[in-house]
Amino acid sequence: LIPVSEPLLGGREEEYVLDCLRSGWISSAGPYLEAFESQWAAACGMQHGIAMANGSVALAAAVAALQLPPGSQVLLPTFTIISCAWAVIEAGLEPVLVDSDADTWTMDVRLAEQSASARTKAVMPVHMYGHPVDMAPLLELAEAHRWLVVEDAAEAHGARCYERPCGSFGDVSCFSFYANKIITTGEGGMVLTRSAKIAERLRSLRNLGFRRDRRFYHTEHGHNYRLTNLQAAIGLAQVERLDDHVARKRRMALAYAEGLRGLPVQLPVERGWARNVYWMYGIVLDDAVPLDAMGLAAKLAGRGIETRPFFVGMHEQPVFHGLGLFRGECHPVAERLARRGLYLPSGLTLTQQQISEVCEAVRAALGSG
Ligand SMILES: Cc1ncc(COP(=O)(O)O)c(C=O)c1O
Repeated sequence: LIPVSEPLLGGREEEYVLDCLRSGWISSAGPYLEAFESQWAAACGMQHGIAMANGSVALAAAVAALQLPPGSQVLLPTFTIISCAWAVIEAGLEPVLVDSDADTWTMDVRLAEQSASARTKAVMPVHMYGHPVDMAPLLELAEAHRWLVVEDAAEAHGARCYERPCGSFGDVSCFSFYANKIITTGEGGMVLTRSAKIAERLRSLRNLGFRRDRRFYHTEHGHNYRLTNLQAAIGLAQVERLDDHVARKRRMALAYAEGLRGLPVQLPVERGWARNVYWMYGIVLDDAVPLDAMGLAAKLAGRGIETRPFFVGMHEQPVFHGLGLFRGECHPVAERLARRGLYLPSGLTLTQQQISEVCEAVRAALGSG
């Protein structure tokens, strides 16, 4: 089997975790948490890092921390993970969906502008499969309209946009450290911010709404979103390996581009202003290909090659239709990506030999072998 993703724990993970076990710092305080938060924030050019239990609750806490007026609209891409939409809805805000750019698969900034209204108070750019959203026009819009920016960089550790690290653009920026991410803690997440005030709120929100001034006395709704020192120990070792992990992803992408050349599929792009970290190597089948993504996935599975389909747009989710949201909306780029896109094995330990095998299997499945 060639798995779709595998973590690489090739640095000091074991040493740091053993140190936690020996010192007894295994819960949600300790030196590795502090080091992980500050080093990841620094790597992304931000002042404060607030570690969270996973990327989904990082998004939820990040949106909640902005304290937008109830009913405010938040622009976000329809083509993303469902956590983005829930973060907005659970904060009592209204999600407004935007279609994607057909080449980078990230939110189409021009369409975002068209979808905005006087009630729009924030925008959530989501870097997709390692490629950044075009942040220059997006930040210009946000500034002009005084929108706050919730950046979702869960798929873009080490990526750059106009030479700046992804995760450095938001009023709040979110990461996931799930096991398939470029930096992992098994499960985990973080919110980054430049604002000491927002950082303080985030620390309270992740810890049951505890206040600094009076213990067990609560003035707002918080959750237990804490990450452990044990997980942060893994995270710190991973941060030390970031450059190597990104280099591996970029080598993988070069090898795939070479091996898939000439096939009727769209490959990931890298815009001139971007550094793509190819978190997952996605392909989109040309319309002329008789198979859809599910058909191709089944053929590859038959040869022991694991893949994952692309996201299904938020406007096509029955759970939201049941809430009276997004019914009848049409976002043609996202709809096509959901049907014709999938990603190939992209793990950090993938070998050149495995990439060649996958390319050969794709070629055969498409009848070009
Ligand atoms: C863009 C994006 N945001 C948020 C998340 C949620 O992260 P987690 O799985 O850690 O909850 C993911 C998860 O894969 C993601 O891809």
